This record gives sequence, structure tokens and C-alpha cells, in this order.
Amino acid sequence: MNFKWLKQMMPRGLYGRGAMILLLPIVSMQLVVSVVFIQRHFERVTQQLTGSMLLELQMLDSWVDSAPDAKTARDRAAALAAPLALSVTLPSPVPEFDGTPRRFYDFTGIVVTDQLKLGLYDLQAVDLSDGGWVRLWLGTRFGSMEVSFPRDRASASNPHQLLVLMVAVGLLMTLIAYLFLRNQLRPIRRLAVMAEAFGKGQNVTYRISGATEVRSAGAAFLDMRARIERNIEQRTMMLSAISHDLRTPLTRLRLGLSMMPQDPEYAQDVTDMERDVDEMGRLIDAFLDFSRRDAQAAPAEDVDLGQLVREAVNHASRGGRPVELRDCPQPGALIMHLRADDIRRAVDNLIGNALRYGDRAVVSLVASERTARVSVEDAGPGIAPDRHDEALRPFTRLDPSRNQDRGQGVGLGLSIALDIVRSHGGNLYLRKSAELGGLWAEITLPR
Ligand SMILES: Nc1ncnc2c1ncn2[C@@H]1O[C@H](COP(=O)(O)OP(=O)(O)OP(=O)(O)O)[C@@H](O)[C@H]1O
Ligand SMILES: [Mg+2]
Repeated sequence: MNFKWLKQMMPRGLYGRGAMILLLPIVSMQLVVSVVFIQRHFERVTQQLTGSMLLELQMLDSWVDSAPDAKTARDRAAALAAPLALSVTLPSPVPEFDGTPRRFYDFTGIVVTDQLKLGLYDLQAVDLSDGGWVRLWLGTRFGSMEVSFPRDRASASNPHQLLVLMVAVGLLMTLIAYLFLRNQLRPIRRLAVMAEAFGKGQNVTYRISGATEVRSAGAAFLDMRARIERNIEQRTMMLSAISHDLRTPLTRLRLGLSMMPQDPEYAQDVTDMERDVDEMGRLIDAFLDFSRRDAQAAPAEDVDLGQLVREAVNHASRGGRPVELRDCPQPGALIMHLRADDIRRAVDNLIGNALRYGDRAVVSLVASERTARVSVEDAGPGIAPDRHDEALRPFTRLDPSRNQDRGQGVGLGLSIALDIVRSHGGNLYLRKSAELGGLWAEITLPR
């Protein structure tokens, strides 16, 4: 059996599902009770009441019918009407009815009519249009006789009150259950919000509350968050301590090199060493920068992403470098809530890579209803699919031989970009550019 369609019809959220779990039993119970009760109980009660009414009517009918003349018949009718609490008119013309008039919700009226028709062979018409009264016409030898009596003598009064009561109580119970449910679900929602925020690098305060299971999940999450935060802090401290401590001897080295006696024999070596020292300084700067990134998160603001990408491309193409902007929304068309400096840095890193490893870069920004995608393509050698994950890791440089002539990178560009994009709830994908043959790096950001 395939229950996929059933699954698709189910509400997605916890609230919806909870409400359904609550409502389904209540509604079906009410349905069953209504059907059984109204069908059986009221039908029987009505039958019995109408049945005893029938006896009186039959007696009245036969007494009137057996009278010798019309005057005696009227006297007999009047004499019987008082003790039986009926109101009788003889003769009374039968009104022209189409069937039996009754109120549309008067279901017991059907039973009453049926019973009357069964028990009174000379019944001519029944009128139930006045909910409080039963009026009927009997054919006698002296013309039609109109008999009327209160409706509650023929059927239980106000059966719909039960329905109204049941629906009202049902609604009330649903409301109460919903309030309870909401209180139970709120801690789960708060936990989800906190987890999502933490994934984006924000720290939302969270107080443990709710049912035992939710509490323990919350506590476990708080533990985990604390551990991750401690790890990040330690990493940051370690990196900055190392970088900082390396700087001093490095400065001393640079100084020492510049004070070397000018001996033509070693001039080349000294130049090489100076270059290496500079390179090391650059690396240390990059490490320091990387380790500080987590600590200095600027607040997000409304930013024109199109403008940001356009600026990044303009900046990168300075000095005639081959960077091309292909698609980009009009200014003001794509305003997004993000940390502009960080996103700018991610885009810069991708363009920088494309220029360094791929000679030229083609940038485009496409927005759909739910995401904005910045992609940077190049015509270089690309990265083999099985090394994409590796390239995204910090401090990894792939295939150093091929990069040598282009200046060494630190191996942080992609991982910083990934970090930034993830902290905005987005992602960074690498694949092969179909058009240019090099790498296609794409940032997706939720709108
Ligand atoms: N567009 C590209 N084409 C081919 N290889 C690339 C491309 N972009 C990145 N790579 C490879 O992935 C590796 C990691 O890139 P990443 O940007 O993280 O570091 P990097 O460029 O070496 O150093 P940094 O960007 O920190 O200066 C690079 O060393 C390079 O080998
Ligand atoms: Mg790079």
C-alpha cells in the first residue's frame, strides 16, 4: 500500500499535527454519538410519545364518527377536547399543502408524521410549520376536523439542544486542549529557534523549560553549545598567541637581514631570505585575521546585494584585470539583511581565486523567490570533484606545484567564504563550469 498521499495531506508543523491529533478523536466521537443518539434515541422517544397521542386521537375520531348528527358530533368533540387538552374545530377546511410543512431542521417531525399516517387511517393533512404545535386534519362523516396540540406531546422538545451543547462543549475542549498543547510545544519551538540561531553564529539566550524530554534535549544542547564555544575560543586564543609570538622573532630576523654587510656573493641569498620572511609575515597576518573572525561579528543590516557584487567586480577589475559581470539585478531590486563586509569578503575571495588560478572571472548574481545566488566562474584548471571538500578546509592548498608561479595562498580563502556564507544560513558550492571549463563557485543565500 502506498500512503504517500496521506503523508502529503498531513500538516507539516507540530502545531498542525497536534491539533489534528486532538481534533480527530473529538470530531469522530461527536459524530458517532450524534448519529447513534439522534437516530436511535430520539426516534424511539418520538415513536412512543406520538404513539400515546395516537390513542387519544383515535378515540376522538371514533367518538365523533359514531355520532348520530353533526351537532352531537361537535358536542362530543368539545367534551373530549377539554380533558385531553386538545383544541378541536369541526368542521374546518383542509388547507392545500404540498406534503407536510415542517422546519428544515425538524428531524423528529418526519417520525411524527409517519407515525400519525400509520395510526390514523383518515388523516388528511399535517402541519408542523409552527415548531410548537402539531395541527392535523381528520376526515369525519361531518366534514374535516382540525385537531391541534402542543408539539412536545408528540416528540421530545428541543432535540437540537443536545447538538448545540455537544458542539459548544467540543469547541471549548478543543480550545482548552489547544492552549495546553501550545504550552507544551513552545519549549520545542524555542529550542529549534536557538539551535538555528547557533548554526548561524548568533547566540540566543535560552532557558530550559517544558516536558522532561524537551528539558533534557535543551540541556544537552546547551552543553554542546558551551563545548563548541570553548573550542572556538581556545582555537582563537592559540592561533593569535602563536602568531603574535612569532611576530617578534620575525621582526628581529627582518632587521638582522637588512643590517647584513653588503657582500655581493650573498646578495641573492639575502634577497631570497627577505622574501621568505615577508611571506611568513603575510601568513601570520592571515592566521591572525582568521582567528579573529569569530570574535568580531558586525550586526547584520539591509544591504543592496546587487550593488555589493557590482562594487566587488569593479574593484577586482581595476588595472584591466579580466572580470566580467554577467547577470545582476537593478540597483535597489535585491535588498537583503546581511553583514555586508563579510559577504563582500567572501565574494572577493572567490573572484581572487578565479583570477589567480583561472585567468579570468565571470560573475553573476541571480535571485529567485527564496534565494540569492552569487556565482563566480573561471577558465582555469578547476578542482577535481573529489577534492572539493578538501579545498574548502582551512589551511589547505591543492597541488602547490601548479600554484607556484602565481604566488602562494594561505589556503584560507574558500574556508573563510564558506564560514561567512554558513553564518548567514546559506552555503557555498563548487562544481565544474560547463561554459568556461574551470571552477564554478556559487554562494547561495536565503532571502
Ligand atoms: N578557481 C580555482 N581554480 C582552481 N583551483 C582553485 C580555485 N580556487 C581555489 N583553488 C584551489 O583550492 C585551494 C584552496 O583555495 P583557497 O582560496 O581556500 O586558498 P588559497 O587561494 O590557496 O589561499 P588564500 O585564498 O587564503 O590566499 C587553492 O590552493 C587552489 O589550489
Ligand atoms: Mg584563495
